[in-house]
Amino acid sequence: MKIETSVTRLLGIDLPILQAGMSWASSNAALPLAVSRAGGLGVIAAGPMYPEALARAIDDLRAGTDRPFAVNMPLYRKGADEILDLLEAKRVPVLIASQGGPDRYLTRFKAIGTTCLHVVAGEAHALKAADKGVDGLIVVGGEAGGHPPEQLVSTLVLTRAVVRALRGRLPVIASGGFADGAGLAAALALGAGAANFGTRFMATPEAGIADSYKQAVLAAGIADTRTVGRGMGMIRAIANPFTERMERLEQAAAPEADRRAAFAAATLKMAALDGDIAGGKLEAGQSAGLVDHLLPAAEIVREIARDYLAVVNGLPR
Ligand SMILES: Cc1cc2nc3c(=O)[nH]c(=O)nc-3n(C[C@H](O)[C@H](O)[C@H](O)COP(=O)(O)O)c2cc1C
Repeated sequence: MKIETSVTRLLGIDLPILQAGMSWASSNAALPLAVSRAGGLGVIAAGPMYPEALARAIDDLRAGTDRPFAVNMPLYRKGADEILDLLEAKRVPVLIASQGGPDRYLTRFKAIGTTCLHVVAGEAHALKAADKGVDGLIVVGGEAGGHPPEQLVSTLVLTRAVVRALRGRLPVIASGGFADGAGLAAALALGAGAANFGTRFMATPEAGIADSYKQAVLAAGIADTRTVGRGMGMIRAIANPFTERMERLEQAAAPEADRRAAFAAATLKMAALDGDIAGGKLEAGQSAGLVDHLLPAAEIVREIARDYLAVVNGLPR
């Protein structure tokens, strides 16, 4: 099956479905490999990976498919320069950079033919990245799991604002809140050329997170996530004793040092690797409330594409 858009043409993929870069969940080869093989774009999340593990994951992906894949690179991470050198040496087909400016990487990756996508959270940011010469933008709205924009402008509004501001200058991928074919249809209707699916792909056997974390995603309703840690790298996560502690401190306007200490005491790794559902950061989007079954990632890609066609065919004219 093929659904052609500005983004599938840019990336050389069959379907306008991206699996979002997610620390731990996609810090491996298995999840991105399954998605790329199924015709979407699989994304390795380099954020928490040591260089050797990242190099191995890239090699495993290449051994498993000729299709394109991406590496997501948070530019703030420790050792970012070493990782950028590795990604350049590996000539990754697509680079998705978040949390920083394109100057840091663009010239050298364009020179080797890497397609460069930049993650943005507002129109001004989007126009700046477009002026610098990135190939496409991923627009992340307030529904998103992980780090949504501080103002929490919804994906519905933010995607439209960025698409309008860009006036067709470059392809846009909408991110945050998408979980099924109807979501994909909505993203394309807004003027995006693809949707980025994060939380949806957490409920897969290939996601590199503890089973208890996957179960928490499946059990969560649409109103069960919280945004905590404003001003210190705010996250959206499923409500648990950690988010309750943060909310108490924030509502009481506790000293910043106390809030920072509580925020740093819990990590995504505790949830993802140790399965610490009470103490860890259970990062997930509002879309967790739309995710109610665990399926192999390739089947999710096919399900989204099939449902998309049914939705589009059913729209009134
Ligand atoms: C568990 C988790 C980890 C994430 N890690 C990263 C990351 O390492 N880098 C990044 O740019 N975005 C990260 N994100 C954000 C996603 O790339 C994406 O924007 C978000 O999941 C979209 O919202 P959705 O979950 O509703 O699909 C993460 C999201 C989640 C849920």
